[in-house]
Amino acid sequence: MKICCIGAGYVGGPTMAMIAKQCPEVEVTVVDINAERIAAWQTDELPIYEPGLLEVVREARGRNLFFSTEVDDAIRAADVVFVSVNTPTKTFGEGAGRASDLQYWELCARRIKEVSTSDKIIVEKSTLPVRTADAMERVLHAGDNPVHFEVLSNPEFLAEGTAIADLENPDRVLIGGHETEAGQRALQTLVDVYAHWIPRERILTSNVWSSELSKLTANAFLAQRVSSINAISQLCEATEADVAEVANAIGTDSRIGPKFLKASVGFGGSCFKKDILNLVYLCETYGLDEAAAYWQQVVEMNEFQQTRFVKTILHSMFNTIAGKRIAVLGFAFKADTGDTRESPAIKVCRELALERAEVVVSDPKALGNAKQDLEGVESVVFEADPYAAVAGAHAVAVLTDWEAYKTLDFERIYAAMEKPAFLFDGRNMLDHAALHAMGFEVYSIGKGRLSHLD
Ligand code: UDX
Ligand code: ADP
Repeated sequence: MKICCIGAGYVGGPTMAMIAKQCPEVEVTVVDINAERIAAWQTDELPIYEPGLLEVVREARGRNLFFSTEVDDAIRAADVVFVSVNTPTKTFGEGAGRASDLQYWELCARRIKEVSTSDKIIVEKSTLPVRTADAMERVLHAGDNPVHFEVLSNPEFLAEGTAIADLENPDRVLIGGHETEAGQRALQTLVDVYAHWIPRERILTSNVWSSELSKLTANAFLAQRVSSINAISQLCEATEADVAEVANAIGTDSRIGPKFLKASVGFGGSCFKKDILNLVYLCETYGLDEAAAYWQQVVEMNEFQQTRFVKTILHSMFNTIAGKRIAVLGFAFKADTGDTRESPAIKVCRELALERAEVVVSDPKALGNAKQDLEGVESVVFEADPYAAVAGAHAVAVLTDWEAYKTLDFERIYAAMEKPAFLFDGRNMLDHAALHAMGFEVYSIGKGRLSHLD
C-alpha cells in the first residue's frame, strides 16, 4: 500500500511518521508546497519541536517514510491520500474571523482530481466544518472523471508536546465513512492501518458527519473546561477560595474528572479558538443562534482572562508600568512546544507594551516565533537566558508551564530584581509560599495574593 499525505505540518508530519514506523510494509510519502519545510524534515533539525519525534522519524525515514515537494507524483502513486493542510480562520469576506478558510483544502481536492489515474481513498485529516466531505466529493467527482474517490474523515486528536505519546497510545482513533459498500470497504482499509498498533476496540467508526463534528466538539468541550475553571478563578480571587483546591474537589467526582481543570492565563494553540469559532459559525449557519452564543462565550472568557492578567499586573504595580522592566518567562502556548499560535503571551506582551513597559521575553524553544509574533512592537527585547531576562526587572510574569521554570534559582532572581519584586504566576506552577518567604510580591490565578506591602 502507498500512502501520500498532503501537508507536512504539526499534524501531517508526526502522524505519518508514526504510521510509517508502525507499518513498515506501507510506503508513506509526505508532500508539501513549502520546500523549506520539506528540506527540514529530511535533516535532524525537524521543522517542528516535539519530544520523541526525531527518533520516530529516524527509524522510518528512507526506509518507508519519504518527504517530497513532488506533490503530483505522490498523489498519483498513492492508494490512500491524507489531506492535512492548514484550515485557518477566514480573514476576509463572509464569515471573516470565524468560518474556516477552505481554500488550501479545496486546492488539494482539485489537484487530486486533476492528477489521479486510479481509484483512491481520500482521508480528511485537517479539521473541517461538518459536511465538508460532501463538498469534497462534489469537487472530486465533477465532470466525467472515471476515477472513483471514497472520502473518509479521520480527525486527529493529538496534542502538541505529547504528539508521539498520543499517536502511539491514543484514547481512540475515529474514522468516519459512508454507509455504502464502497464506503465501508474504504473504512476497513484505514482501520487495518491503525490496527497495526492500536487495539481494535479503540478504533471507533461512525458516519462521516459524526466524525467531522466530533473533532470540533472535542476541542470545544476541552476549551470550555478551561474557560469554566478560569471563570471560577475570578470568583476565587474575590472570595479567598483557592482555585486549585476547588479544581481538586470537583475533579475527584468521577463524573467530572480531573483533567483540563488548571486555571491559567488562558488557553492558546492553533485549534481551540479556531475550532470554537468555526462551531459558532456553523451553528449560526443553521439558524441556531442560542447554541452559537453559548460557545462564543468560551472564547470571550478566554480573551478576558488574558486582559485581566495584564490588569492585575498594572493595578498591583501602583497603576503604572511605564518604563518598568517586565520579564516574561515563557512565550509558547504551552510547555514542550515551540509553537506560539494564539499563545496568551502574544496578547499579554502587546498589552504590556501598550502600557509602555519594557518587556523582556524569554523562552527555551519559542523565541524565533515570538520575534515574528511581536514584530513591530516597540520596547520588546528577547533573551534566551532567563537569568539575564530578569536582571533589573520590576516584575516576572510566568506565562508558559515549562518544567524548567520550577527549578530556577529564585533567590538569585530575587536578588537581581528591583524591589518590590513582583511575581505573576500565570500558570499556578511555582511554590508561592516559598517565593513570598524570599521577599516576592506573589500573584497567581485564582488564589489570594501574598504581599509584604499590606
Ligand atoms: C488541543 C487538543 O487537546 C487536541 O486533542 C487537539 O487535537 C488539538 O487541540 P493542543 O492545542 O496541542 O491540543 O494543546 P492542549 O494540551 O489541549 O492545550 C491547549 C491550551 O489550553 C494550552 O494553552 C494549555 O496551556 C491550556 N490549558 C490546558 C489550560 O490552561 N488549562 C488546562 O487545564 C489544560
Ligand atoms: P497543522 O497544524 O494543521 O498541521 P500546519 O500549518 O502546521 O497545519 O501545516 C499545514 C501544511 O500544509 C503547511 O506546511 C502548508 O505548506 C501545507 N499546504 C497547504 N496547502 C497545500 C497544498 N495545496 N499542497 C501541499 N501542501 C500544502
